[in-house]
Amino acid sequence: MKAAIYTQYGPADTVRIAQLPTPAPGPEEVLVRVRASSVTTADWRLRASAFPGLLWLPGRLITGLFAPRNPVLGMDFAGEVVATGHAVTRFRPSQRVFGFSGGGGHGEYLTVSQDAAIAVTPDALSDTDAAALPWGGLAALVFLRDVAHLRAGQHVLIVGASGGVGAYAVQIAKALGATVTGVASAANADFVRGLGADRVIDYRRESPAAAVDAYDLVFDTVGATRYPQMLRALKRKGLFLPLNFGGRELWHILLARLIRGPRLALHVNADKAEDLQVLLDLVAAGKLRPVIDRRFALDDIRAAHAHVETRHRRGAVIVDVALEDAPRMCA
Ligand SMILES: NC(=O)c1ccc[n+]([C@@H]2O[C@H](COP(=O)([O-])OP(=O)(O)OC[C@H]3O[C@@H](n4cnc5c(N)ncnc54)[C@H](OP(=O)(O)O)[C@@H]3O)[C@@H](O)[C@H]2O)c1
Repeated sequence: MKAAIYTQYGPADTVRIAQLPTPAPGPEEVLVRVRASSVTTADWRLRASAFPGLLWLPGRLITGLFAPRNPVLGMDFAGEVVATGHAVTRFRPSQRVFGFSGGGGHGEYLTVSQDAAIAVTPDALSDTDAAALPWGGLAALVFLRDVAHLRAGQHVLIVGASGGVGAYAVQIAKALGATVTGVASAANADFVRGLGADRVIDYRRESPAAAVDAYDLVFDTVGATRYPQMLRALKRKGLFLPLNFGGRELWHILLARLIRGPRLALHVNADKAEDLQVLLDLVAAGKLRPVIDRRFALDDIRAAHAHVETRHRRGAVIVDVALEDAPRMCA
């Protein structure tokens, strides 16, 4: 099968197209013919081995100390089940499915456990739209609903509101009934308002930390703010929730306990099939829409990596893995 692979850590042009054996599903796995995938921040961080601070060594131990252990990136996938292991009960060949895997979406075929974050794709959703949902949607859902326990009437500041996670966080925060202030550049202000934000702060003109006692929750999806900086802007019982963290945030947890002020929470997402269904329910209810920045053909995956690495994307960046008429870098 054709796949985009990386066999050493490095910049975007480390990735190349190669032929690999088609994987065979294990007893409890399904074999998916991938039609669409996405390039996420996780993909470029893994490819570049760009783990923050103290996480570099644990990151390398997981992904491969000297060279990547799994050469095919791509966690989001959408496609069709073409074979199943003998113990698979939840899926059958010819079903359209989408989900989140540990990698492999940047190849024409992917094996994934039937118990992983995988769900049947509704007829109303294209493969491209389905592949745009899992990574950003699941992180936004779990962090806002389960970690922050965001409730109707609360006020949330979403930093990086136009990005891969942020574009979903704005919509899900609104669906939960919150008042949303998004932080993005002026060029993305209308886009973020269109996702439902009540107000947008242009971080190049106004500091998101300038407000006083304003937010129940600061959800920073890009790592542009720090807990001490946001203390004044948070309400006394508010919560600072960064998606990225390193040694500095561990120290900030101690600080939060010492000053008994706004809290700080760190979390690592475990992606679940039932949460994919929650995303689908929100889509069906008209409260969430897949957000696609650009689509790239698999052959142009280096450009997709480079674009996501700029940290100025709007929502998901899709890789068309198996569409006959895959467009080349169209917006
Ligand atoms: N802990 C977990 O379990 C977990 C789960 C999922 C993800 N993550 C992590 O969460 C992060 C998610 O990143 P992402 O992919 O969503 O980010 P991204 O897509 O790269 O973010 C890009 C967005 O951030 C905005 N931005 C750039 N600089 C900014 C600044 N200084 N202030 C405010 N906004 C700014 C950009 O807006 P403009 O273009 O308008 O500048 C752009 O729309 C990743 O680092 C990922 O590893 C963690």
